[in-house]
Amino acid sequence: MHTILSNTQLAPNVTRLTVTAPRIAQIRQAGQFVIVRSGPGAERIPLTIADADAAAGTITLVIQAVGQSTKELVALQPGEELRDIVGPLGRATELPEHGHAVCVGGGVGTAVVHPIAQGLARAGVQVTSIIGGRSREWVIFEEELRALGTTIVCTDDGSYGRHGFVTDALRDVLAAGGVDAVYAVGPVPMMRAVAEVTRPLGVHTIVSLNPIMIDGTGMCGGCRVSIGGETKFACVDGPEFDGHQVDFDELRDRLGTYRQYEQAAQDHACKMGQG
Ligand code: NAD
Ligand code: FES
Repeated sequence: MHTILSNTQLAPNVTRLTVTAPRIAQIRQAGQFVIVRSGPGAERIPLTIADADAAAGTITLVIQAVGQSTKELVALQPGEELRDIVGPLGRATELPEHGHAVCVGGGVGTAVVHPIAQGLARAGVQVTSIIGGRSREWVIFEEELRALGTTIVCTDDGSYGRHGFVTDALRDVLAAGGVDAVYAVGPVPMMRAVAEVTRPLGVHTIVSLNPIMIDGTGMCGGCRVSIGGETKFACVDGPEFDGHQVDFDELRDRLGTYRQYEQAAQDHACKMGQG
């Protein structure tokens, strides 16, 4: 069992949970994730480890409440417990030891880019972060990223920071030169757009993919993605891949596979007074 120590709302439907998980907190590396279950028979939910405190034995999980299971997860209050947490899973981010990296986070994906930026900064890399949200209230992890290097905030409606998408700011940073790598995490159209901005410039681009995951061990095939024409499993071969090689159309289509079942689960919960 893992005790919830804090539950903080970061954005309208984005929640940060701090949870006891001493072993994971000690051995996790940037880019890795866990699979959690809130209770017996609950859905298994893959979540990136947004931060960890090895001394305190805690990990930080950031959850966007989009379906019935994630809504149940964010409803957990301090003192309550998560049934199980499996991890750390996936390959750690490959960290160079010098150079200049740009970390691009879109919406809730900013929570995933944070440990990558942290790992890069600790390895000695100069980090510039570009983070975006629909409006000011959707911008997350700004303070944490500012502590690691120059940070540019963008909002779609111009309510805070620069008006526009993260890709607009990325174009300007790349035009100034001296960027060795770009790490991008966020919605699929954003990661695709980032890859198209960097492709003509030949800048190495890493994206963190979030396909449907079930077992997280490479057995079920649920997280299948196509990278450079080859089948890979995001849970064991990723979740980070070369953004110039990803088949984003396939990823988008596979992410939509269970949308109608998710809607049915939410409708059922609403009828039962739990939605
Ligand atoms: P959102 O749709 O509000 O977009 C966030 C930001 O991304 C925008 O402010 C903009 O700057 C940028 N963006 C969006 N579309 C773009 C485009 N076409 N071109 C350029 N930039 C664009 O994001 P959200 O609602 O917070 O994100 C939700 C999505 O992110 C979900 O689909 C979720 O599955 C996905 N997600 C992915 C990961 C991952 O590991 N890749 C992690 C968490 C969430
Ligand atoms: Fe089953 Fe990756 S989640 S193979």
